[in-house]
Amino acid sequence: MTTLTIQTPDDLHLHFRDGDILTETVAATARCFRRAIAMPNLVPPVTTAQSAIDYKKRIVEAVPEGKNFEPLMTLFLTNETTAQDIREAKSAGIPAAKLYPAGATTNSDAAVSSLDHLSPIFEVMAEEGMLLLIHGEVTSHDIDIFDREKVFIDRHLASIAESFPTLKIVFEHITTKDAVEFVLSSSQNMAATITPQHLLLNRNDLLVGGVHPHNYCLPVLKRNIHQQALREVVASGSEKFFLGTDSAPHEKHRKESACGCAGCYSAWSAIELYAQVFEELDCLDKLEGFASHYGADFYGMSRNPGTITLVKDSWQVPEEITLPNGNPIVPFFAGKTLQWKLVGS
Ligand code: DOR
Ligand code: ZN
Repeated sequence: MTTLTIQTPDDLHLHFRDGDILTETVAATARCFRRAIAMPNLVPPVTTAQSAIDYKKRIVEAVPEGKNFEPLMTLFLTNETTAQDIREAKSAGIPAAKLYPAGATTNSDAAVSSLDHLSPIFEVMAEEGMLLLIHGEVTSHDIDIFDREKVFIDRHLASIAESFPTLKIVFEHITTKDAVEFVLSSSQNMAATITPQHLLLNRNDLLVGGVHPHNYCLPVLKRNIHQQALREVVASGSEKFFLGTDSAPHEKHRKESACGCAGCYSAWSAIELYAQVFEELDCLDKLEGFASHYGADFYGMSRNPGTITLVKDSWQVPEEITLPNGNPIVPFFAGKTLQWKLVGS
């Protein structure tokens, strides 16, 4: 096969950030996606309908001329979130709210410190048909970083799903066999996103031969049996798993530092990275469902009009990209060769 045409895809989890970086991040995503779920972990976080509407406007202003792209907004849940906040957000067209356990990742200090507080909020979300997007890791110091996702399932996620059976939940950027098994054994209201880095890499790619800061993200890369489980489940074509890159830009000096930031900036090659995985797994026919159908269906949105085409044409991901502020950023998979290329980019 030398060309691959699929219905226009969506990226159902990413970080655009704010300010002048938007001209970079939004253009990179609008290159191939028609819609994207924009995460709310700005400083300060997006906690109200009005702040989400304002943020959406700034993203829309950064869409390159001639590109048809729509950001989908999310609300950041805190201990102070009210039922009224949820209702206002839903009526403003915001499809989802994001739960970060406090301290779980970049800019999540304002997040929820006790999940018990959120029961009335989850109830309203279920009533309103607003999706709950979860960063599923516990943050307590006594839990090993490689076990944090599994412990979150056991301590929190299983009981949230059981207590709120009509609430639609997206278990974001899953990284473990345990998460795959949990999602598969849960109801139709539980789905998951999977990033390119967790499909392409395992923790050896982070730690063998030196620390590789550009492969550091959260949840952290796991051992290869977990990578294998993620690969198997996307190859199975299960409708419960769909595309969410978690593309998360950090300037080069913040990644290459004594305390490097978590996040992989994959927007520049997102669909090509997934195509590479699906080809390696000999299931390119499953890419369209994963990238363009299952996520939209789970969110209750129409599938996109139009198509994108990839050609079999090897190319190298740039070593660096210059941000609008002049600082460099190292894209995910920098300097590596990919086999598929989006036509027209
Ligand atoms: O690696 C990550 N980076 N994981 C997250 O959950 C957040 C993200 C970011 O915002 O940088
Ligand atoms: Zn994220």
